[in-house]
Amino acid sequence: MKRLATLTLTGVAALALSAAVQAEPDGEAIYNQACMACHMTGAAGAPIKGDEAAWAPRLDQGMETLYTHSIEGFNAMPAKGGFTNLSDEEVKAAVDFMLEPVL
Ligand code: HEC
Repeated sequence: MKRLATLTLTGVAALALSAAVQAEPDGEAIYNQACMACHMTGAAGAPIKGDEAAWAPRLDQGMETLYTHSIEGFNAMPAKGGFTNLSDEEVKAAVDFMLEPVL
């Protein structure tokens, strides 16, 4: 009986944890997986993470436009960085992570 109770508690904790993960996608992990290849090197003219001069005019468009361009694509920027399996929320989290040093 005691063992069953412990198992149930572990199950509840695991559920709570996965709910927390879903509510807040890990922008850093997503950036590392899907965005870094271009946004760390400037490949194809991508604005580099942390480069204030490159981001300033883009930030002037407003965050909603940046989110939309990231999700739907923009010139050489592929929709969702080419990782179409990402949810819109995950892409937004990656944008937040990428822009954090220049906000
Ligand atoms: C294949 C290379 C590549 C990948 C991968 C990539 N980007 Fe980009 N991104 C670009 C390029 C190139 C531009 C510049 C497009 C332009 O201004 O013409 C850009 C521009 C942007 C912009 C600015 C858009 C604007 O309106 O100025 C944001 C925000 C952005 N990318 C977010 C992301 C995110 C988030 C990811 C990962 C999910 C990602 N990018 C992955 C190439 C890439």
